[in-house]
Amino acid sequence: MVRLAGVSVVRDGVALLDDVTLEVRTGERWVLLGPNGSGKTTLLQVAGAALWPTRGAVEVLGGRFGHVDLRALRQRIAMVSAAVARSLRPGLATLDAVLTGRHAALETWWHEYTDDDRREAAGLLAAAGLGPGLLARPFGLLSEGERQQVLLARALMGRPELLLLDEPAAGLDLGAREALLARLAALAADPGVAPLVLVTHHVEEIPPGTTHAALLRAGRLVAAGPVADVLAPGPVSAAFGLAVEVERHGGRWSARARRA
Ligand SMILES: Nc1ncnc2c1ncn2[C@@H]1O[C@H](COP(=O)(O)OP(=O)(O)O)[C@@H](O)[C@H]1O
Ligand SMILES: [Mg+2]
Repeated sequence: MVRLAGVSVVRDGVALLDDVTLEVRTGERWVLLGPNGSGKTTLLQVAGAALWPTRGAVEVLGGRFGHVDLRALRQRIAMVSAAVARSLRPGLATLDAVLTGRHAALETWWHEYTDDDRREAAGLLAAAGLGPGLLARPFGLLSEGERQQVLLARALMGRPELLLLDEPAAGLDLGAREALLARLAALAADPGVAPLVLVTHHVEEIPPGTTHAALLRAGRLVAAGPVADVLAPGPVSAAFGLAVEVERHGGRWSARARRA
């Protein structure tokens, strides 16, 4: 689904990504962890065919960069990020915000939508716990938690073959974070849902059902593989530059600094 081989992204002489080799296969649910500025968003942009690396080979959904139309490729990938949220007009009705995901558009008047499309969009919102009372509400008036759920529903509306989420739980209060994680866990458990890569810098924000993890530090991959191998004290301490203890309870992770 995603294959990066020796990928570097260099800007102003600084390697934002440094020789990253990583493979995401069908059915896998990945989390990408690392401190602020470690290159997580940059890696997600490369995987989303939104950024061309300085060096290395990239293959996404069977298309090799340099041999495929990246615009066509981008249509098959859905991204949930603060940048996507900012690009939507705040006055857009919530249902319309979800509908625009069908064609990765920003306004509904760019395309025709059927009643089936509207039912599907409302169904995706209902599955996220957002009732019919919210459908007409302007997107810009939603709470932060509701907004993330709407962005996720919008992403699913495009029936993506690859789903990329950049810090979807950032800034959410406890209730909203837990609701979002429950929704992500349900998606992770659904074999019909595309491979998923979620970026976060908190292990507490890893949805149950995550199968694989990658750790980044200063643009370099510290570790990548099955989640239980990677989210061990050694690799996590190396990625965050701090001796930490890592625990797993009921499918959830937590980490804290090791006491001297
Ligand atoms: N165009 C650019 N030129 C120089 N530095 C950049 C550019 N874009 C991002 N950076 C820097 O690259 C680093 C990695 O960025 P990013 O991928 O956004 O990290 P993360 O998502 O892990 O916080 C950050 O330190 C950021 O400031
Ligand atoms: Mg980022």
